[in-house]
Amino acid sequence: METGAETGMETGAETGAETGAEAGAGVLHSLRVSFFAMARLSSLPWTGLRERLDDDRSPTLVADVLRQTCLHPLCRKHPPAVAYRRLFLTKLIKMLEDTQSESLDEAYDALGEVLGAPGGAECYKTYFLPGGERATLLESVSLISEGTTGLVTWEAALYLAEWALDHRQVFTGRTVLELGSGVGLAGIAVCRCCRPSRFRFSDHHPAVLKKLRQNVQINRLAEETAGGVSVEELDWTAVSEERLREIGADVVIAADVVYDPDVVAALVPLLSMILRRYSTEGPAPQVLISSTVRNPDTYNSFKQQLETEGIRHEVVTGAVSHVFPYNRVDAIELIQLYI
Ligand SMILES: C[S@@+](CC[C@H](N)C(=O)[O-])C[C@H]1O[C@@H](n2cnc3c(N)ncnc32)[C@H](O)[C@@H]1O
Repeated sequence: METGAETGMETGAETGAETGAEAGAGVLHSLRVSFFAMARLSSLPWTGLRERLDDDRSPTLVADVLRQTCLHPLCRKHPPAVAYRRLFLTKLIKMLEDTQSESLDEAYDALGEVLGAPGGAECYKTYFLPGGERATLLESVSLISEGTTGLVTWEAALYLAEWALDHRQVFTGRTVLELGSGVGLAGIAVCRCCRPSRFRFSDHHPAVLKKLRQNVQINRLAEETAGGVSVEELDWTAVSEERLREIGADVVIAADVVYDPDVVAALVPLLSMILRRYSTEGPAPQVLISSTVRNPDTYNSFKQQLETEGIRHEVVTGAVSHVFPYNRVDAIELIQLYI
């Protein structure tokens, strides 16, 4: 299992055993990982980069930085948002000027190119997975667009994916149903790394379903998952027992689906149906819900409604490997449900 330090999210300087070249490679790797995930600009390893630039003003280092980010072939194929690239290059150029680095031309050219590029409502985010795999997502540049929160990747999905990467056996050889998949990061990570026998993405919003299908294609999941991958319209307010029987999930996952009292009111009866049907017809599926606790009242009300339905929950504790760069300040909780 690749750890956060190995992915370059932390420089590992605390071990004290790093050579200058290793530290330099770590900074470049970390820049690439953060840049393609469009991590908050302030979270990029600017301090480490500044140290490298203070030591090495040669054009080679500047070229390496650009080749790991704006001039990386991935940036041509699946570019992060134009506004993000502009801000990144502006900050980088300022640092290069401050450190009197040689050969700024390439950086100015890259900025010129991005200044002339149209903005657009969509962008790509790429997350690097352990073992050299990656997940690329076409997303909206706005957190809420077309009346839905489902067109961007939320932190709870990144956390759920990290947990899955640490617990692959939960998914291997099993049929997995994801509720409220959004653009699909958690499911894509599971399909890529955990070898489920079948994976069923689902959502109810037409624009989300369209983007989800595009993301399944971009990541070539259908060809890679033995038993098949599907993207299905599944509205929590209108799911029948028959449909659940046909889906036959062994594992049910969902990320960031507890964000609004109305949404909770639709979700809890479905979770109850999922758990109850199986309790009479076979082993209950493993149900895992990952949530960012933004509003404790809404979250506690979700838990109370589960209890009222006779559903117990256990908080899944234990640290997860830090694989993706995202804001870990907000409380994220993963719970498993039982009946
Ligand atoms: C905050 S987004 C989370 C998306 C994704 N799981 C993530 O964490 O990145 C909530 C998702 O739940 C979906 N959703 C909300 N109500 C739903 C319902 N009644 N039936 C199916 N999906 C629903 C939305 O369309 C949206 O994609």
